[in-house]
Amino acid sequence: MDFNRTVLVTGGSGFIGSHLVCSLVNRHPDWRIINLDNLDYCCSLRSLESVEDRSNYTFIRGDVCNSRLVKHIFSTENIDVVFHLAAKSHVELSFEAPSSFQRVNVDGTRVLLGAAHQARHRPQVFVYVSTDEVYGAGLDQVFDENSPVRPSNPYAATKAAAEYLVRSYWDQYKVSSVWFPVIITRSNNIYGPRQFTEKVIPRFLTLLQMNKKCTIQGTLPKSRHFLFVSDAVDAFLLVLEKGIVGEIYNVGSSCEIPIMQLARELVRMVKDIPDSEVNDWLEFVPDRPRVDLRYPITCEKLQQLGWRAQVSWTEGIRQTVKWYQDNPDFWSERNQQRIQLEDASDL
Ligand SMILES: NC(=O)c1ccc[n+]([C@@H]2O[C@H](COP(=O)([O-])OP(=O)(O)OC[C@H]3O[C@@H](n4cnc5c(N)ncnc54)[C@H](O)[C@@H]3O)[C@@H](O)[C@H]2O)c1
Repeated sequence: MDFNRTVLVTGGSGFIGSHLVCSLVNRHPDWRIINLDNLDYCCSLRSLESVEDRSNYTFIRGDVCNSRLVKHIFSTENIDVVFHLAAKSHVELSFEAPSSFQRVNVDGTRVLLGAAHQARHRPQVFVYVSTDEVYGAGLDQVFDENSPVRPSNPYAATKAAAEYLVRSYWDQYKVSSVWFPVIITRSNNIYGPRQFTEKVIPRFLTLLQMNKKCTIQGTLPKSRHFLFVSDAVDAFLLVLEKGIVGEIYNVGSSCEIPIMQLARELVRMVKDIPDSEVNDWLEFVPDRPRVDLRYPITCEKLQQLGWRAQVSWTEGIRQTVKWYQDNPDFWSERNQQRIQLEDASDL
């Protein structure tokens, strides 16, 4: 079959990537979707079971830092669109192993950009999926796309560095014949089914399922803005169709929840207990000396393109809790591998 468009998604086996790949494969049977992913500890092939046999889906197991492989893909596949999501994304881990974050998030982006730009069939658009964390902490101010970038952890710093690389290809070539259209998105915290258990919502749910307490890091009033994964995917697909190249789009949520309140809400949803017993399921553990308390962003630019979040917090968290209850073993093997890795790194 001839396809109208070929889309390369990097990190397509991960949490957001798998939802994006499934949407693309289902909504666009006339597009070919290629997923390049090295299947790091945080993802599962089962996330893409529903599309793995579809004729418009191809999986390539490989590393975005492998320049031979990446060049080969761009020289043989006529890629029209890139969604670059492959990354190391766990903040705590980024302090423990910053060089692996530097390698994947920065070098991986450099390799991908170089190969895409040199390809005879150059992509029409390169979408880089970045994060609100590049702004650093916001207390009273709300960040728009022109706010200064002040990352405060190695994960955010490597995402910001990758953004600068992406922007350099736009700035350098925008008035030339080899122009390279890029779009950057910066999203709030995204949640939903199939997210690996190291992130806060699945971590709390998994602990509760094991009859353990939710571990709250530190006592500071930390809160996060949460966006349901299908709304994030809609935003990425909208910027692909209507976004202005060279621009940055915040993908934000008005749903800001203090982490303590989040834990209490999940305890109430999972455990059938009176309110007076909810606190018995919370445990305070030490945090880093300095953490970003909140990341408030405005996403008026994206809203001007027509985007609105469709899934309320009540509905999104209901679907998420149900998924983790219906799939208690989905992450058990990966969790075990993670524990073994942590044990090995203690030696
Ligand atoms: N989850 C969030 O709340 C959030 C918010 C804003 C932005 N983002 C960004 O969205 C992207 C995806 O995040 P996620 O939450 O789905 O993360 P994830 O950890 O679930 O997925 C990352 C994917 O990248 C793959 N990967 C890692 N290193 C690779 C490499 N060297 N080569 C090829 N593939 C590699 C992993 O195997 C995994 O499938 C990341 O770039 C992240 O910075 C995430």
